[in-house]
Amino acid sequence: MGRPLKDLRISVTDRCNFRCTYCMPAEIFGESYKFLPKDEILSFEEIARLARIFVEFGVNKLRITGGEPLLRTDLHILIAMLTGLPGLEDLTLTTNAYLLPQQAQQLKDAGLQRITISLDTLDDEVFKEMNGRGISIDRVLQGIDAAAAVGLAPIKINAVVQKGVNDHTVVDLARYFKNSGHIVRFIEYMDVGNRNGWKWDQVVPAAEIIQRIDAEMPLEPVDSNYPGEVANRYRYRDGQGEIGVISSVYQPFCANCTRSRLSTDGKLYTCLFANTGISLRDEMRAGASDDDLKNLIARIWTRRTDRYSEERTELAALQNAPAKVEMYQIGG
Ligand code: GTP
Ligand code: 5AD
Ligand code: SF4
Ligand code: SF4
Repeated sequence: MGRPLKDLRISVTDRCNFRCTYCMPAEIFGESYKFLPKDEILSFEEIARLARIFVEFGVNKLRITGGEPLLRTDLHILIAMLTGLPGLEDLTLTTNAYLLPQQAQQLKDAGLQRITISLDTLDDEVFKEMNGRGISIDRVLQGIDAAAAVGLAPIKINAVVQKGVNDHTVVDLARYFKNSGHIVRFIEYMDVGNRNGWKWDQVVPAAEIIQRIDAEMPLEPVDSNYPGEVANRYRYRDGQGEIGVISSVYQPFCANCTRSRLSTDGKLYTCLFANTGISLRDEMRAGASDDDLKNLIARIWTRRTDRYSEERTELAALQNAPAKVEMYQIGG
């Protein structure tokens, strides 16, 4: 469909220390849940090899995800292996920040450029419910401060908005980070995976989020940073910073989708809502050369027809639809 391949998101673990109700509900992901065994997970060498090949294809941005990526032992070593790939312009990571105070300096020194932190609300009671582990926002705020102190900037704060859960707290979150240099991005709640029981009426349209914030702190739109950026940007009219909204439900952006995703076990997915991925790990472990891998990736990418968010109304209503990949396997 003529969409360039610009972005690779790499999941380095399927584990997480949170149990967000919309991603890994605690009643399903309990103590006995079987996460992937080590030999099924891509090694750092395998990840670095694939990343190099993707960058040779024109990918200029790598995002490390999970599960929770900071749970992967010695993650800074992988960052150091990815830093400086010729053509790579942006090396970043999405985290819940729980382990950031210990790791921020190490990650920065290894070459990580910036960071995105998930924080859905500043209301401690609401946050404790949403993260499923009773973790306090203080811990996340310490992580944000640690990232800022070592210069992992600009820091973006991702907030998933669910009607009736945390939507009454969006203006407070925006206000708290106004003039901090950090960019809050409000995300429409999506039907990722198969386990969060998503319904249309739980989504607050991004336009409504903008209206609510604008009513108290006037905003104006700003142009995208790059083609295919998922967030729509706004700045405060008083010059005290910017926010973003990610409107993948009400204003889908599939036409500009430049993103590919590598799951923890090395499958390549061409959509966040895909049912199947192709195992690059198995090809590598069966002895594929770089050229074999390139041919395979090119075939997969040039034939992709994904546009799930544009077809959501029909696809979400299907009975017996095949299972989608889970958020914690590909990191969003
Ligand atoms: P920047 O690099 O800072 O522009 O951010 P990003 O676009 O990489 O965004 P991030 O990884 O922080 O993702 C923010 C939210 O957007 C997450 O909830 C993602 O799941 C969602 N998102 C990212 N890419 C896509 C996509 O291709 N399709 C859909 N539907 N959602 C996406
Ligand atoms: N809808 C929207 N965003 C989600 N995220 C996780 N699950 C969902 C969902 N169902 C967000 C996380 C993280 C980012 C990678 O995706 O909060 O910030
Ligand atoms: Fe963990 Fe992120 Fe999923 Fe929450 S959204 S359970 S922090 S992987
Ligand atoms: Fe890309 Fe799929 Fe998201 Fe559409 S729904 S923007 S095709 S990842």
